[in-house]
Amino acid sequence: MKKIVVLTGAGISAESGISTFRDSNGLWENHDIMEVASVSGYNKNPQLVQDFYNKRRQQLFEVHPNKAHLFLKELEQNFNVTIITQNVDDLHERAESSHLIHLHGELRKARSERNENMIINWNKDIKIGDLAEDGSQLRPHIVWFGEMVPMMDNAIKEVKTADILLVIGTSMKVYPAASLIDYVKNNIQIIYIDPNDSFQSNSIIHIKKKATEAIDDIKKILGL
Ligand code: OAD
Repeated sequence: MKKIVVLTGAGISAESGISTFRDSNGLWENHDIMEVASVSGYNKNPQLVQDFYNKRRQQLFEVHPNKAHLFLKELEQNFNVTIITQNVDDLHERAESSHLIHLHGELRKARSERNENMIINWNKDIKIGDLAEDGSQLRPHIVWFGEMVPMMDNAIKEVKTADILLVIGTSMKVYPAASLIDYVKNNIQIIYIDPNDSFQSNSIIHIKKKATEAIDDIKKILGL
């Protein structure tokens, strides 16, 4: 079976009702990115940051995977599929995709402030005073700006062995995630699904549609 590596971003979950970051009315238009998504912002105002991610976590219980998430599961019938997602939602899990790497963390997990490897499942709000096993405050298991991306090495390994790279719903503005595209083997097909011209390159096939509306086009390219 050929191997498809899929890099997903906020756009794939947009049609499930989760806001993207950089579109108009996206999360970063309405919030100061450094206030809610950096260690310095967290140190300055932990309550504000916890509230921000508590809201995002609560929202997960109101949304569902859409046709694009489900299509990626279906692809497993014909391809060896690995998904590398920048999303912190759990919609790929709920679509039952088998091989999934979360580059930027997961909303349904919390971790010790002191120890990035002390991670637990967490499905409710994190309150100031909720402690990890090491006695330190729990914080969202999210990779913030300025922090290392621990899953990057695994993601690079996957991309290097891809026969096809499918990129869905990401502006490709955030590094190191956006650099993954540079690790593909020579001359493989790179298919980019995005309704806007967020990212442009000669070496990609750009299907300028929303994720759920691009499924038939992707199938055609893949010979399905
Ligand atoms: P962005 O908000 O930067 O980009 C979302 C992309 O999705 C844009 O290019 C939109 O054009 C596109 N889009 C919108 N609706 C779509 C739809 N229905 N179908 C397909 N595409 C659609 O989000 P990301 O690229 O995921 O990191 O952002 C990367 C990282 O920046 C996030 O993981 C987050 C953020 O800061 C952290 O919080 C650590």
